[in-house]
Amino acid sequence: MGESIFGAVLGRTLVIVSDAHLGVASPDTEEALLEFFDAVPGLGDCLLINGDLFDFWFTYSRVIPRRGFHVAAALARLRRRVPIVLVGGNHDRWDRDFWERRWAQALREHPDAVANRAPNAHLVAAVADLEPGRALDAGCGHGAEAIWLAASGWRVTAVDFAATALHQGQVTAREIGPDIAERIEWVEGDLATWEPPARRFDLVISLYVHVAGTVHEMVGRLARAVAPGGTLFLVGHLPVDPATGEPSPAAGQVQVTEAEAVGALDARDWDIVIAEERVRAKGDGVDVVVCARYHAEL
Ligand SMILES: C[S@@+](CC[C@H](N)C(=O)[O-])C[C@H]1O[C@@H](n2cnc3c(N)ncnc32)[C@H](O)[C@@H]1O
Repeated sequence: MGESIFGAVLGRTLVIVSDAHLGVASPDTEEALLEFFDAVPGLGDCLLINGDLFDFWFTYSRVIPRRGFHVAAALARLRRRVPIVLVGGNHDRWDRDFWERRWAQALREHPDAVANRAPNAHLVAAVADLEPGRALDAGCGHGAEAIWLAASGWRVTAVDFAATALHQGQVTAREIGPDIAERIEWVEGDLATWEPPARRFDLVISLYVHVAGTVHEMVGRLARAVAPGGTLFLVGHLPVDPATGEPSPAAGQVQVTEAEAVGALDARDWDIVIAEERVRAKGDGVDVVVCARYHAEL
């Protein structure tokens, strides 16, 4: 092979296994993989295991003891004959298609619950007293927060890349009243690339959004949209519960953490009003809540 993009790969003829996901595969697949491992020394002189072998990385501790024992033992034997390089899971399944499917399913199965969901309690507590102005909801979903903000007098730009969710938001807003609907602009955009207008909004919120790229980049982009005197409000769902080490329903996602979000804000320009982890009342993990006020002069 030519120059390796995998720095640690040894050997000249690489054998690659990608994303086997044994945690959700059938026993036949595991059997086939074990046979394949037996054949590896005749096929090449290094084995690269790319992506998720047992299951998503966050379930390794549960899958290996229960189901991955034979594979782990086979790899230990194989390692005496060829070097094995593991490269962590590298795919992102929380893309636009995933969310389109997720929202379509939610609307099919629980239309009333979606349409009537109350706005986020962290948000309501933190911003209820702010003077309404222009707000941006980045990753608005079906718009429960955007609609609540509009009903509270804000003019809202609500961005999401899932057209299904945006459409539902529009319908709900119109049903509640034309004055509310008129105050919300629904924008189909990908937050990985969509650049909000600089210093435009008195309030920028982003709740439970899986970050494409780094938290630092995304928080920086959202922070640049906040006008002087304005507020940035972020909520993340930690993928792993810090108390138990158990994966949460956000497992595998990149969500804002307290340290990364605060670290992305220049301390000379931002007052941190809230930066804390809050255990969820439903017992399904921990939320990170960050609220910061931009006080820099233009
Ligand atoms: C867990 S939902 C949260 C929705 C809403 N903020 C809430 O709290 O109910 C995450 C939302 O982020 C959206 N999303 C995820 N990644 C995105 C991206 N790169 N660009 C735009 N929207 C994104 C999804 O379509 C989905 O509607």
